[in-house]
Amino acid sequence: MKRLFALMAVMCANALMLQAQQLTLKLDKAEKEVSPMLYGLMTEEINYSYEGGLYTQLVPNPSFADMFNPRGQRRGGQRPAGNAPRFTVRPERWQLTDTVKVRVRQNRQNGINDANPTSLIVNFEQAGLGIVSEGYWGFPIRKATTFKGGIYVKNASANNNETTTPVKSLTIALKSSDGSKTYAETKVSGFSNEWKKFDIQLTTSQSQSETKDARLFIIADEAGSIELTRVTLFAPSYKNRKNGLRVDLMEMMAEMKPKFVRFPGGNYLEGNNFANRFDWKQTIGNPDERPGHQSPWGYRSTDGLGLLEFCQWAEDTGGEPVVGVFAGYVLNGDHLDGEYIKPFIQDALDEIEYIMGDASTKWGAVRARDGHPEPFPLHYVEIGNEDFFDRSGSYPNRFKMFYEAIKARYPQLQIISTVGYNALKSNAIPNPVVDVIDEHYYRNAFDMYRNAFQYDRYDRNGPKIFCGEWATREGSPTTNMNAALGDAAWMTCMERNSDICIMSCYAPLFVNVEPGAMQWASDLIGYDVLNAYGSPSYWAQVMFSQYLGDRIVPVEASDIPKQKLDRNDEANAVFYTATSDAKTGKTYLKLVNAVGNNQKLTIKLDGAKTMKSKAKKIELK
Ligand code: AHR
Repeated sequence: MKRLFALMAVMCANALMLQAQQLTLKLDKAEKEVSPMLYGLMTEEINYSYEGGLYTQLVPNPSFADMFNPRGQRRGGQRPAGNAPRFTVRPERWQLTDTVKVRVRQNRQNGINDANPTSLIVNFEQAGLGIVSEGYWGFPIRKATTFKGGIYVKNASANNNETTTPVKSLTIALKSSDGSKTYAETKVSGFSNEWKKFDIQLTTSQSQSETKDARLFIIADEAGSIELTRVTLFAPSYKNRKNGLRVDLMEMMAEMKPKFVRFPGGNYLEGNNFANRFDWKQTIGNPDERPGHQSPWGYRSTDGLGLLEFCQWAEDTGGEPVVGVFAGYVLNGDHLDGEYIKPFIQDALDEIEYIMGDASTKWGAVRARDGHPEPFPLHYVEIGNEDFFDRSGSYPNRFKMFYEAIKARYPQLQIISTVGYNALKSNAIPNPVVDVIDEHYYRNAFDMYRNAFQYDRYDRNGPKIFCGEWATREGSPTTNMNAALGDAAWMTCMERNSDICIMSCYAPLFVNVEPGAMQWASDLIGYDVLNAYGSPSYWAQVMFSQYLGDRIVPVEASDIPKQKLDRNDEANAVFYTATSDAKTGKTYLKLVNAVGNNQKLTIKLDGAKTMKSKAKKIELK
């Protein structure tokens, strides 16, 4: 068989180091399979990942819920358990064009539905005054772009004893923040004493230049009062999905060739308390009827990006969902167990049915109603998140109850535990049954180097490993090149051992880089409302997942030089992994040069019947 040898390297290069190091690729011994699920994505609402990030709805606080009552602060001085984040919220405020002549009052009695109980009564002293949304640090203004959205309006006087006459017409406009330039505008009129939704369409001109210096203005065309709620505006979305996701970020993720998306967290799955867990049933259906909830990362989510959107995200980037189901533990340390956990097990079974049941099942039919008749592929379900923080010792029993209920209904599913095998053992459950263990590693580059052979030592008879969160945390808001080297060293470990480490995903995926938006430093992809960029870590991952065979090629290493990490510790200066592709005959060798010198390296190819004389080198530096 002909073989094309492709070489790929992550390198930082300077001077020459004379060493006789050698790697021998045992091409005829490539027997173990590379896990087909090895590289995926992990996501949660953190760092304004969806609101102000991936989700195309651009108006924060659309139902004026937080205008006067910013929520999200931890109440009662309770100390959060485990690694629960400690933040106060940054309220998404609306502004007034004139703080004297525009008067506003939040109405909590008269919303459009139970999910949106709040609205805003506005009194304008004269025509031309308005209320203004600053968006998520602006709006993405580009040429010839159509934004679609909606606004619910009614006459304020009908229910609220307002004395002024109703405003008959409103101008909705995208303008520069000082109001001097108009990028796009439209009018709505025909209000009555009942709530009515008005569709909005705003289109910028062909000659419009790019800017994020933009605000959404709602301007009264005459003096009077009016009541408003649920103001939305959507940017164009990837694959033109309704209620969809941001084009550039989806393209960047598609380039990573993810085999799965792990959602909805992370801490976002658990929530700070039971009321703010990820309650998936509240995140489906008409976005105007989703109540939203508080993210543990200090701001509110509308849940416009909910369960269906997560699944479509996986589908549209070429992967499948890996769903974490809420398992009865929340970040303030509370948990439920025994009989009390049973409704949550039912919720998890329903959630699985929503994802993978056909349209004849109860929840599969709901998914079909929501616009996706085809079931999504689902093979892995995770029970909770980081339950090693649950000091009550309740997880082994909770896990067992979920495991047995899910396996009884879906024996084909692989069930992931969030604690290791030894931690899963308890007096009551001495021999737990578990398919996969989720391990999380946040390290610096040296620790990545130190541990870059960790999985070579794992017991092949134990459960499989899902490295469900990992990152070299160096650099902020996104990681730097040193972090990418640590990441790449760690990826050589996972890839070389992907017979046991079957899945992996980096965290956190996203950060909005505007001041005040980040809660967790060193992230993979950064953006503002207009632009996005990949960190060096992102590009390392693109390289690793794009150049991957389906068989693990054993590599024998000799005389690999060491680098000093500290006075007592050293690690390899070079890290490596090789895979080959049975269909194309290509072999991929990945090399990480973790020190600031050029390295001389002999590569021997053992066991190839034939070999092309040329290799291709792809380099990140
Ligand atoms: O990725 C950030 C956080 O780290 C996740 O929410 C949590 O699972 C982990 O502790």
